[in-house]
Amino acid sequence: AAPPCTLVIFGAGGDLTKRLLMPALYNLAGSRLLAGELSVWGIDHVDGSDESWRQNLTATMDSFTKDAGAEFHAERIDPEAWGFVRERLHYLKGDFLAPETYRDIAARVPGSAVFYLAVAARFFAPIVEHLGAAGLLKQEGGAFRRVVIEKPFGSDLASARELNRRLLAVAEEPQLYRIDHFLGKETVQSIMAIRFANGMFEPIWRREHVDHVQITAAETIGVEERGAFYEPTGALRDMVPNHLFQLLCMTAMEPPNSFDAEAVRTEKAKLVQAVRPVPLADAVRGQYAAGRLLGRDVAAYRAEPHVAADSRTETYAALKLTIDNWRWAGVPFYLRTGKRMTGRRTEIAVHFKPAPYQLFRDTPVDQLAPNILRIQVDPDQGTVTQFNAKVPGPTMRLAKVSTSYREKDFFDEKPNVGYETLLYDCMIGDATLFQRADNIEASWAVVEPLVAGWGQGGAPQAYAAGSAGPADADALLARDGRHWLPLD
Ligand code: BG6
Repeated sequence: AAPPCTLVIFGAGGDLTKRLLMPALYNLAGSRLLAGELSVWGIDHVDGSDESWRQNLTATMDSFTKDAGAEFHAERIDPEAWGFVRERLHYLKGDFLAPETYRDIAARVPGSAVFYLAVAARFFAPIVEHLGAAGLLKQEGGAFRRVVIEKPFGSDLASARELNRRLLAVAEEPQLYRIDHFLGKETVQSIMAIRFANGMFEPIWRREHVDHVQITAAETIGVEERGAFYEPTGALRDMVPNHLFQLLCMTAMEPPNSFDAEAVRTEKAKLVQAVRPVPLADAVRGQYAAGRLLGRDVAAYRAEPHVAADSRTETYAALKLTIDNWRWAGVPFYLRTGKRMTGRRTEIAVHFKPAPYQLFRDTPVDQLAPNILRIQVDPDQGTVTQFNAKVPGPTMRLAKVSTSYREKDFFDEKPNVGYETLLYDCMIGDATLFQRADNIEASWAVVEPLVAGWGQGGAPQAYAAGSAGPADADALLARDGRHWLPLD
């Protein structure tokens, strides 16, 4: 189990706390991974008491039994596991920007603590500075003091650097746990297992054998109620230097010397540092127009709540990345992400080079399927390998076949909202799945030309909701004689 500590959640009344942190604590309690001495303090600016917070969260947990579409869904809430969490919940009313709040916290938090910033990004630096000023980040007598920072971490290279500078002025790097929730996904971690627990993939995982790699995070949902956040953010900032780059790192980094946090994070940083800043000509942005999706009409992005009628915010981004290192020279990595697309699919597809010589004269070369290894992250979890096989019969004809590994065929499903590992790792002090300052800054540096260029005039290309993205994205690959894998 995790060591005894106090979890202090800034943003007790927020969405993240309700939808993800509480279910994650509940699942950890169910797995008996929490210390009996744990206590949880929720901080927010509205009135409340231990009892009212407990009641509100209990009602939310109960509601998850009805909503099969939520991130967390359970047939029933186990009274023992939820009771464990519930009786440890305490509430403190406090303004995030007032020094008194931190004096109140100091009076309640002895020993080890994890401060979780489940708040809007503008509060990250001020809260950490207040924690520092109140002496709450001092680690004395073997106790630890750690800070979990949510995304978005900056909105460009300069702001990310400035945020790191302010945080590192009051905390040591090892005290900072910068979250990217993609790293909490089972399948993202299993990429490391596939690559490094096997002897058969790594030898061909390089430029000699790989033609190109496609990384996709396609969503069917639109911007929903998040227009106010999304308008100044857009698909690039929301998904690319963080989530997609984490998939990129897992796929393309060199084998680390160990699974020690610093060893892994050093390899990731080296990889991102080798990615060339993306020129405008190697990127495409799109915005969804009205369309039909999953059998119903859906509105255009510009008609969504809190979105400007002439918005130039992109809801789709596609990029071609060039990696300047020994392993990947000449192998393009194509990344794409978008909302309101044909299908929901997060995956990495490694396309291998064709056989060197075409022996099978009865099958034209263009009918031979490429060898593709797809690592599926969401909603399917597993891998699919595509290759050519002989069609039974007297003549030598070939056809595309595939084999699949589905995680659920081999393993019992574990209840998981994706934050369990992250919360637990933070309590035990394992920073492997969190982002180091250099990694974040290197990622922003790669997309900096787009962040700067896309801000200056021009509108993204429209794509119909329910389609596979804008036409220019197809052209980006067609230019190189390639095409995107279909999404349905
Ligand atoms: C979030 C983005 O970080 O990730 C959202 O802000 C996006 O816009 C989400 O929908 C995707 O995460 P997942 O886990 O649903 O693939």
